Amino acid sequence: MHIGTPLTPSATRVMLLGSGELGKEIVIALQRLGVEVVAVDRYANAPGHQVAHRAHVIAMTDAAALKRLIEQEKPQIIVPEIEAIATDVLAAVERDGLAQVVPCARAVQLTLNREGIRRLAAEELGLPTSPYRFADSLVELQQAIDTTKGIGYPCIVKPVMSSSGKGQSLVKSAADVASAWQYAESAGRVRGSRVIVEGFIAFDYEITLLTVRASDGAGGIATQFCAPVGHLQVNGDYVESWQPQPMSEKALKKARDMARKVTDSLGGRGIFGVELFIKGDKVWFSEVSPRPHDTGMVTMCTQAQNEFDLHARAILGLPVDVGLRAPGASAVIYGGIEGRGIRFDGIDDALSVPESDLRLFGKPESYRKRRMGVALATGPDVETARSRARDCAGRVKPRP
Ligand SMILES: Nc1ncnc2c1ncn2[C@@H]1O[C@H](COP(=O)(O)OP(=O)(O)OP(=O)(O)O)[C@@H](O)[C@H]1O
Ligand SMILES: [Mg+2]
Repeated sequence: MHIGTPLTPSATRVMLLGSGELGKEIVIALQRLGVEVVAVDRYANAPGHQVAHRAHVIAMTDAAALKRLIEQEKPQIIVPEIEAIATDVLAAVERDGLAQVVPCARAVQLTLNREGIRRLAAEELGLPTSPYRFADSLVELQQAIDTTKGIGYPCIVKPVMSSSGKGQSLVKSAADVASAWQYAESAGRVRGSRVIVEGFIAFDYEITLLTVRASDGAGGIATQFCAPVGHLQVNGDYVESWQPQPMSEKALKKARDMARKVTDSLGGRGIFGVELFIKGDKVWFSEVSPRPHDTGMVTMCTQAQNEFDLHARAILGLPVDVGLRAPGASAVIYGGIEGRGIRFDGIDDALSVPESDLRLFGKPESYRKRRMGVALATGPDVETARSRARDCAGRVKPRP
């Protein structure tokens, strides 16, 4: 395994598709190893654009535009950071041996849509999941919930193509079904309005099990697990995460077995965020990201090699170390206001919290519920780290 020199003919060139806050950290991890990085997003000056060798703005769902850009930049490795990509192009690129797709085109295609990954996990791999049905109209949704063998109440309705809780509602009774359908319709990433309805799982806690498929040094792949990341979601969007989440021996073993099964099946090299619900010793598979996970940002303070370093190393064929260094937590900083080019007051005050750190993503435009930064903190235990991270985040004041 070798790495060339950026901006010369020997360069090891990586193209990132999606350049948000997670992409930015992937770029930084790759830059540190002397990789040439090309960052792509749908808007100018995205976080990852600001730290890459070159930046491009295209609609990544536009197959022709994506193909053209890949032919122009000739990356050896393509790293999708988002789901909304013309994945057929990636499959063709991989098939024709033009570039390596991370973790592999099949994994990217299966996780593009909730239906692909849910059917794989539940129907092919036999993993326990919430009960679920798919529906293409309000009438079908109503039937999927109400018939004798239906999902029943409470349940959760989600567009099959969406993330960060967009278009997702908790449905408590028949009176909520129509509004849940309309909300899913309005917020789905792609028009066409298919939804999944899932039975509500009353879990004790939920985790992201960061699972790395990396070279075993002997021509094969070894699977390794980070310590479980616990997290708190509000309206389907993550607001706090911490590591390690305490778990029973039994639940941890089940969680790892399930994560191994699903990542073995998806294949390729890289990090995966396997989302699981846990109640006592029971574990349900929810979904998986074939890339670093937002809740895994906590690893920027807890691990010697954070989830972005692990991804960078795994995709380059390098060895990884998933070890935990200290208990820690992350807390999201929302924009709180609408506007372009906002300021963040109170940074000095925020960073006076013991063992704290900040990441401000540099997004050119703020919305009330847009994630603009994250506070990180370590401590002697997770509870202390959580309260420090929350405190640090709360002292950052977005201003027009
Ligand atoms: N069947 C369920 N039972 C109970 N809670 C659920 C269920 N499905 C989702 N949730 C809650 O909603 C959160 C978001 O759901 P999910 O991960 O499916 O959506 P998402 O839009 O893909 O979110 P993200 O992109 O942030 O991962 C979950 O982390 C969990 O807290
Ligand atoms: Mg999720």
